[in-house]
Amino acid sequence: METVIVKNITKRFGEFTAVDRISFSVSKGEIFGLLGPNGAGKSTTIKMLCGLVQPDEGTGSVGGLDIVNQQWDIKKIIGYMSQKFSLYEDLTIEENLEFYGTVYGLSANLLQQRMNFIYELVNIKDHRHSLVKNLPLGIKQRLALGSALIHNPQILFLDEPTSGVDPLMRRIFWDEIYTLAKEGKTVFVTTHYMDEAEHCNRIALIIAGKIIALDTPQGLKEKLPYTIVKIVTDSYLKAYNVLSKENFVIEVSLFGTDLHVVLEKQYKHFAIIKKLLQSHNIHDVTIEPILPTLEDVFVMSAR
Ligand SMILES: Nc1ncnc2c1ncn2[C@@H]1O[C@H](COP(=O)(O)OP(=O)(O)O)[C@@H](O)[C@H]1O
Ligand SMILES: [Mg+2]
Repeated sequence: METVIVKNITKRFGEFTAVDRISFSVSKGEIFGLLGPNGAGKSTTIKMLCGLVQPDEGTGSVGGLDIVNQQWDIKKIIGYMSQKFSLYEDLTIEENLEFYGTVYGLSANLLQQRMNFIYELVNIKDHRHSLVKNLPLGIKQRLALGSALIHNPQILFLDEPTSGVDPLMRRIFWDEIYTLAKEGKTVFVTTHYMDEAEHCNRIALIIAGKIIALDTPQGLKEKLPYTIVKIVTDSYLKAYNVLSKENFVIEVSLFGTDLHVVLEKQYKHFAIIKKLLQSHNIHDVTIEPILPTLEDVFVMSAR
């Protein structure tokens, strides 16, 4: 069952098109990621879905409600965690949750029940009497997720929720997102972290307001119409220079000290690469085809 459907939605700011005719749909219980660099149009897209920004063109619905005509109703059924979390710094965790629960009209009983659920899910009970301004970012971030969940919404919109948070905290946060999706909640999340996008069921790549690819992480990698080979050598900088000058090489990038070389899909002449490097006195070479990383997919799709 599809809970989010958009068709050709567009947003302009004056002459500038921030989101350019994008279309996709998201199923119930799915974790759907919108992956793209800064300024790509992720926040603007999420705001159109949350009923905060009116699209200039296109149609769409969220939980069966129209994103153009039923913006007010959409706000009641969704959870939204904005890029700059809206927490009250001079209130405690408990007071923040109570405040949001009251805004959504929860009864005292229900509010207590939801708060217990949230304390459990995001593991912040021990801090409940601390002022938000005294908390580390990782805990604020989990409280922001908790606040977005106070009214038990079925669809969650998370805008770069893990920005600036350390890897361990990000891991924990993703475990919490999995728990929510397993319960049937739909999660729409934006990110600019390639590795993080691997956690999503499907990903749309967005650049300059346009979706340039949309598939499962595995599907994106398999369907990339290139062969990627990994080359490992101590002389990686020299090899980089040699290979970047070759016509049959479409792209060379460095991943640490490994080289990823992009070749035509059917190009299998690894022996030629080996010979070429040997002719430049690079002998300690291993060459193997690899499945592209999401970063490879992104770089190649953006060309
Ligand atoms: N209210 C606005 N007025 C003018 N330009 C905006 C506004 N909001 C966003 N933009 C521009 O639209 C583009 C996309 O922004 P945004 O959706 O925030 O991107 P992202 O979230 O992917 O970083 C950026 O170039 C941004 O400067
Ligand atoms: Mg943004």
